[in-house]
Amino acid sequence: MAAGAGTMDVVPAPIPVILDVDTGVDDACALLLAELHPSLNLQAVTCVAGNAGVDQVVTNTLAVLAAAGRTDVPVARGTARPLIEVPREARHVHGEDGMGDLDHAFLGLPPVTAAADPRHAVELLRDLLDEAHERTEPVTLVPLAPLTNIALLLRTYPQAAKGLRHIVFMGGAANIGNATASAEFNVWQDPEAAAVVLDACRELSVPVTMYGLDVFYDVRVTRVDATTLSAGASAVARLAGALVAFQCERFGIDDATVGDAGAVCAVIDPDGLRTTALPVHVELTGARTRGQTVVDRRRWAGDVRHDPHGVAPTVVDVATSVDAERWRRLWLETVRSQ
Ligand code: RIB
Ligand code: CA
Repeated sequence: MAAGAGTMDVVPAPIPVILDVDTGVDDACALLLAELHPSLNLQAVTCVAGNAGVDQVVTNTLAVLAAAGRTDVPVARGTARPLIEVPREARHVHGEDGMGDLDHAFLGLPPVTAAADPRHAVELLRDLLDEAHERTEPVTLVPLAPLTNIALLLRTYPQAAKGLRHIVFMGGAANIGNATASAEFNVWQDPEAAAVVLDACRELSVPVTMYGLDVFYDVRVTRVDATTLSAGASAVARLAGALVAFQCERFGIDDATVGDAGAVCAVIDPDGLRTTALPVHVELTGARTRGQTVVDRRRWAGDVRHDPHGVAPTVVDVATSVDAERWRRLWLETVRSQ
């Protein structure tokens, strides 16, 4: 019998995902990809304060879901401030409304008719993860924001972790910072939450991938791509083009990162990502290093033996490189597909 004759190509079931966002220009890029890509089953989006206040984040998130016609996806409001730190929004990066101050009417975006789910984000996450465990269909959780909701979830309802397959979070960095010289914005905004999440994931045996700044800026879309998208027939394409164009204008450059969308690419197409399993510690006390993810790449045991701090207990798959052109095409083809 010829190879393949009588056999059917088995199409894998879509991967159940939940995004936790602080929408956010690049969170919006991630949401468009997660809403539309056939390899994913976007089960919910939870919101947290970060780039903007949590109510603005909910408004922005509902608008992005409406643009893709995904009003079936529940959106829940989460925490309005970090566990300990004071909220420090990033309007200098994302605009006054947190999502590029775009003219939604001019873009022809559909009006937002859906309301947020009445549950708090932590309760929605608990409910969906408990259901996922009962169905033995564990969820990949993709936090793209300060980790406050996730820390509260794992400490308040640890049994919910049974419904988790994997956490792929955008945050931290092995080599650079953005919010400060040493810290990445999401972890810097709520370092205690990040430390709790890493600690809880170790205790609850949840695998963690850290999609940090080391790769965050690599997947880029050009101003020309944006112009082509903006001329598109669909609200999704026009929104995607406007998000890219906003960044090019804001930073005075001819291309822009899709940022958080790279963490979603890592779920869709993990072969485009290289990671190394390394101990990671979140610095909480350094005057200039608070919020730094200290990634330990030491190889000689003798160094570690003489280190009073020892080795951080939690080992994380730290993203070290991406196939940027592969994921640029993935994002563009998806937002153009509408
Ligand atoms: O440091 C980049 C991260 O901070 C991204 O998630 C961006 O949206 C902001 O939240
Ligand atoms: Ca974000």
